[in-house]
Amino acid sequence: MVRGLVRRVRVYRSLASATASLARHVARTARAAVRARGVFSLVLSGGKTPEGLYRRLAQRYRESVPWNATEIFFGDERCVSPRDPRSNYRMVRSAFLSHVPIPRKQVHRMPGEVRPLSAAAAGYARSIGPIPPASDASAARFDLVLLGIGPDGHTASLFPGAPALRVRRYTVAAVPRSGQPPYVPRLTLTLPALGSAREVCFLVSGEDKAAAVAGIFRTPLRGDPRLPASLVRSAGPTHWYLDRGAAQDLPPELRFP
Ligand code: 6PG
Repeated sequence: MVRGLVRRVRVYRSLASATASLARHVARTARAAVRARGVFSLVLSGGKTPEGLYRRLAQRYRESVPWNATEIFFGDERCVSPRDPRSNYRMVRSAFLSHVPIPRKQVHRMPGEVRPLSAAAAGYARSIGPIPPASDASAARFDLVLLGIGPDGHTASLFPGAPALRVRRYTVAAVPRSGQPPYVPRLTLTLPALGSAREVCFLVSGEDKAAAVAGIFRTPLRGDPRLPASLVRSAGPTHWYLDRGAAQDLPPELRFP
């Protein structure tokens, strides 16, 4: 078995039902992590798809998750002000962070406004700290990494064929040119950082991503840099929470697991 390539696919009739199921899973994982290790390290994805998930975590699970023992990181960020409507942090703060009691020092915002980009990336890497060797599955840096994908198969801000895909020594990379809207420079966790996770959960919705999802599930075990999400590994399973639109091009045995 290729490390971190245990894929679990769940298909739902709607994004709302996929979101409800994933929120329940995140809450359960948080409680288990704090019981086991005293902390829950969660990496958040950006874009539009996860906004409902963050709202549900804040509303439905405000009291039943140990948010005071949770630390938050971001998988990527647009290099704009945190008050800019394109900022992932702005969306997450509005939908989630301003409604749950996570201590401010435990929320590690990606400093998208900092220049030069290399300094912003290096500073964020320092906030993550060293990541354990990939071979040591029990010592992953993050408990759960949330990700989305674009119609081109990108994830975080790792775009098809981008140099950031080849970064192995660093946990954070600067992306001068975005391959998808908004066309602004980005900061992104690299594959080694995304892979230092006890588990990865993708939340994907919409027919416009069906071809990318099917392509990802068809790639060989080593993945394909033309579909960056296929390169993401974790120390444990990778869960795919899909709505019917996103799953429509999958073979029947995957669509109806
Ligand atoms: C970003 C995200 C990005 C996102 C996908 C899907 O900064 O845009 O981190 O990787 O997950 O582009 O975005 P949507 O959910 O908006 O379709």
